[in-house]
Amino acid sequence: MKRVRKAVFPVAGLGTRFLPATKAVPKEMLTVVDRPVIQYVVDEAKEAGIEHFIFVTGRNKTVIEDHFDVQFELYNTLAQRGKDDQLEKLQRLQPTPGQTSYTRQQVPLGLGHAVWCARDLVGNEPFALLLPDMIMQSEKGCMKDMVELYENTGGNVVAVQECDPAEAHKYGIVGKGEPIHNGFRITEMVEKPKPGTAPSNLYINGRYILQPEIFGILEQQERGAGNEIQLTDAMLKLTEEQPFYGYHFHGQTFDCGSPEGFVEANVAFALWRPDMHAKLAGTIESLLREARPAGR
Ligand code: UTP
Repeated sequence: MKRVRKAVFPVAGLGTRFLPATKAVPKEMLTVVDRPVIQYVVDEAKEAGIEHFIFVTGRNKTVIEDHFDVQFELYNTLAQRGKDDQLEKLQRLQPTPGQTSYTRQQVPLGLGHAVWCARDLVGNEPFALLLPDMIMQSEKGCMKDMVELYENTGGNVVAVQECDPAEAHKYGIVGKGEPIHNGFRITEMVEKPKPGTAPSNLYINGRYILQPEIFGILEQQERGAGNEIQLTDAMLKLTEEQPFYGYHFHGQTFDCGSPEGFVEANVAFALWRPDMHAKLAGTIESLLREARPAGR
């Protein structure tokens, strides 16, 4: 069985839910506490043993490339000023030369199309796919557990979480079969099931391990919902030929592509930090006593 060595990060979306913040700044570069959103996702992949990071970018996204590049002037200035802690922090996050690749989607035709744009960089091997909008909080990273499951099962793996059953029609939902290792066999996969027809309340939360055969399917894929080339449509096709397994993630997931999810992520990650917890918890308590929605 081939190891999962590469991860794809589709970062070519327009981020319309977060305008005007995302007019000039990519949503992946918005800051959660003191790191851009994309850094959390890359760190999760690194923890899972990923060795090569592939970014599918678009217009206005060059700052993502700059973020993962060496900034000589800054590094020299920090060294001269004796700011060794900061320098060490930056160097620790720095990918080694040749560990990152970038390709452009050119036209945002949908997530499936963005993934297909990475086909030559991935080649003929399984790959991790992490949607950078979704950042996760848990002691052990979601992708690390997924790689462990994959190493026991092969095939394709998607991470799922529970949603309110009344909201299931908004998501990609999976049916749960027999348990295997730290996951389970997926019996069916439905994109946005009609209310009352969902096979479970387990929704696909933005982390995948996929086999390279997905690229051939995406190549033939017609446009689906929203007139976009949909990844879920291609995965559904792949289920006809290959097994899919589910990993039930029990940590917190924040959708940083929406203002609400982004604010929640900032609060949660700041509360997670031992150096910030006590002060922030006190501030939140006093705000909850006093703050009112505007106009009331
Ligand atoms: P979203 O639908 O959440 O991203 O896609 P979006 O299109 O940027 O969001 P809104 O709705 O306009 O606010 C999920 C992921 O797929 C990427 C996005 O960057 C995001 O990480 N994506 C989506 C692409 O890379 N290309 C696309 O054509 C569409």
